[in-house]
Amino acid sequence: MNTRAVWVVALLAACGGSSKKPEPEPAPVVTPEVATTPSAAPGKPAPPAPKSLFDRLGGLPAITLVVEEFVTRSTTDERIKERFFNTDATNLKKLLVEFVCLATGGPCTYTGRSMEDSHAGMDLVDEEFTALVEDLVAGLDKYKVPEKEKGEILGALGPLKPTMVVSADKLHPIDDAKLAAVTKLAGTVKDKAAADLLAKAVIAGKRGQQSYAEQLFTRAEMITGPKTVASVAATFRTGAPARIAGTPKALPDAGAQPKVVGSSDSDSPAAKPLAASLKGTLTIDGKAPSGFGVIMMWPANGKYAKRTPKQRVIEQRGKEFAPHVMAVPVGSTVAFPNYDAIYHNVFSLSNPKSFDLGMYKSGESRDVKVDKPGIVRVGCNLHASMAAYLIVVDAPAYVATEPDGSFSFASLAPGKYKVQAWNERSGEPLDTTVEIKAGANQTTLDLKAGGQAISNDKFNNTREVKK
Ligand code: HEM
Repeated sequence: MNTRAVWVVALLAACGGSSKKPEPEPAPVVTPEVATTPSAAPGKPAPPAPKSLFDRLGGLPAITLVVEEFVTRSTTDERIKERFFNTDATNLKKLLVEFVCLATGGPCTYTGRSMEDSHAGMDLVDEEFTALVEDLVAGLDKYKVPEKEKGEILGALGPLKPTMVVSADKLHPIDDAKLAAVTKLAGTVKDKAAADLLAKAVIAGKRGQQSYAEQLFTRAEMITGPKTVASVAATFRTGAPARIAGTPKALPDAGAQPKVVGSSDSDSPAAKPLAASLKGTLTIDGKAPSGFGVIMMWPANGKYAKRTPKQRVIEQRGKEFAPHVMAVPVGSTVAFPNYDAIYHNVFSLSNPKSFDLGMYKSGESRDVKVDKPGIVRVGCNLHASMAAYLIVVDAPAYVATEPDGSFSFASLAPGKYKVQAWNERSGEPLDTTVEIKAGANQTTLDLKAGGQAISNDKFNNTREVKK
């Protein structure tokens, strides 16, 4: 393998792309004498090993300078700067330095996500990729990186394109006549930043970047207020779930929430413990599950008191929802506070409750009342990797499972029960019955694998980039 091929492979490995599908091999850019492994002529010492691209570029100080310049250019480039409005630029620079360092043969570890994961849901198109590469070229030129090394870097970026740029059939262009009305409205909007965002929303809408267009529109709306742009809101929002709008409320940070929450024993403790208890394990295809689940139990005779609705919280922190799995009685209200320095857009497309909370900043929250039983999958329209599961229960007894699949009900009345068990990695919930005798009881509930992660955006478009 020649030198360039070695670090192209390293780069692809860092991107998480190498193991999935072979990438097209770009034209070689390294001269044969560099690419050839040096070997000793008989009786002579071996020639020195060729320097890595990392060393030829000038090591970490030089890479850091180029990345600084590259990120500054990309985040101010009119063609793509809005892509970075919700990104921590300092962290992005750090990750890019690690990425380029590792890829060029330097002594670094890349601590970021794969290229697929970090660009999923962005609906990136060719011209945006080109704009970014041009910003990189300008950064390399500023620091007078020689043509040969520049060629090696650019030659390695080409194969990454399919891991982040979507194909045309994944795009959903918005009707031209509707976008013309937005352009007309933009011409009347006094605030330049808002008018600019509307103009960019039109470009994104024409390309078919539905979620990105709505995001740009929402940012314009946040500047102008909803009334000014109300006449064109449907152009960007048709197809998304009903919005829960209104002014977000401030919700003080009560500290990081646990990963999993929900137990009728602790939500509604019995005044006097009942005569039976149940300990059990939820398995998937006979093995310990990798995700969390919920067990619900109804007395088979249909006689039971309804649980009191609760007020609960699912926070957004560190680009994750917490709790990740939560069981609540039907009729409960869940607040979704954002405790990150960036925006999130919480939504659900699920039948029991579909909603779109829009974007709001750190310390703010919107409420969702869940009035039908079922599984509500929750996602973030800005961060494809975020997922939470809200299990709305009408059962009098329910409990969320521990990481190893174990669960426990401390206080049950003896008798026959209908049981439903669900896990985030299972397909349909399991419906079964158990007979609970006075005293301690034990059971195992085995589910079939098949749960799906939340990969679609709020328009129900796939967020998987790879074809
Ligand atoms: C070869 C091309 C590219 C490379 C090597 C690259 C590399 C990276 C890296 C290493 C990260 C950090 C991953 C992480 O957060 O864990 C990242 C994030 C990001 N990239 Fe790229 N990228 C490329 C193309 C693009 C393009 C074309 C755009 C848009 C015009 C873009 C926009 C972003 C944004 C907005 C983030 C931050 C995501 C977030 O905050 O969650 N990237 N990229």
